[in-house]
Amino acid sequence: MKKMLIFIGAIVCIFVASYWFFNRLGRQPINQATKTCLVTGASSGIGKEIAREMVKRGWKVIGVARRNDKLKELEVELGQAFISYKCDVGSTTQIHEVSDEIKKQGLQPTLFFLNAGTGELEQKWQLSTAVHQRTFATNYFGVIAWIEEWLTLAKDLGGGTFVATSSVLALFATPVCAAYATSKIALVHCFDSLRRQYLYDNIGFSIALPGPTDTEMLKGAVDNLPFVHKPEDEAKYIIDGVFAVKQQIEPSWFYSCMLRVLNWLPDKVALKLL
Ligand SMILES: NC(=O)c1ccc[n+]([C@@H]2O[C@H](COP(=O)([O-])OP(=O)(O)OC[C@H]3O[C@@H](n4cnc5c(N)ncnc54)[C@H](OP(=O)(O)O)[C@@H]3O)[C@@H](O)[C@H]2O)c1
Repeated sequence: MKKMLIFIGAIVCIFVASYWFFNRLGRQPINQATKTCLVTGASSGIGKEIAREMVKRGWKVIGVARRNDKLKELEVELGQAFISYKCDVGSTTQIHEVSDEIKKQGLQPTLFFLNAGTGELEQKWQLSTAVHQRTFATNYFGVIAWIEEWLTLAKDLGGGTFVATSSVLALFATPVCAAYATSKIALVHCFDSLRRQYLYDNIGFSIALPGPTDTEMLKGAVDNLPFVHKPEDEAKYIIDGVFAVKQQIEPSWFYSCMLRVLNWLPDKVALKLL
């Protein structure tokens, strides 16, 4: 019995060590040549905290969002290290124009936090294609369009990393969130595919799956949920994961585990436990 346990223990250790080793093979560290990053959704919540933390770490931050007043407030707080651009990421035309402007200014980001996101609750019997289109325009195409604009330039600069903010709802699609959850799992699959495609080209793709975080997006729901994180903690965890070259960053262990388990259960049981 003892020998059997030692044998199983050794197999598990070998498996974990091999997984750890091969998982790191081919991964490139973050290109810090220009120490310039871009953050979408920088006007509030997790994106604002990512901007603050990156400035603290000595990076120049290009912040993007629609609410110019909020961006200007952050410019005053963070000084010259923060440069803002008003942009609706739901418009590929605006992303193209703003990218051109950034390039004209001579800014050369190599790290992209594609974090802007939106969510609308979908009530029963009111399924709407328009809600799905709006959600995908921001949450999915509002990520892809930035990659399209900057991929080759990042390569020319010696490498780049794209980080998308998905959600734990990519792991388990709750009712009333069909468009949101689908847009977030679409990002996970997209980044998995791109990461494999560019594995040996110094282009990295990381995805973050935050759990409930106390931001404007969650307003009104915070008191009903356990283990809600602060946006500044979420931002730091995501940034640490990015610099550790993790491909999937999951700051909320409780929700990551719980929602995976719910996904295995029959719907009737899962819905009772929610
Ligand atoms: N809070 C949570 O519990 C939670 C959990 C999992 C994942 N997330 C994800 O985390 C990301 C950040 O959200 P948050 O929690 O920090 O919420 P938030 O405080 O509401 O921030 C959302 C940010 O996205 C920007 N944004 C939204 N639509 C935009 C658009 N069309 N164009 C440009 N910017 C846009 C907003 O800026 P403007 O309004 O100024 O444009 C804002 O800066 C989102 O992708 C969200 O899905 C949040």
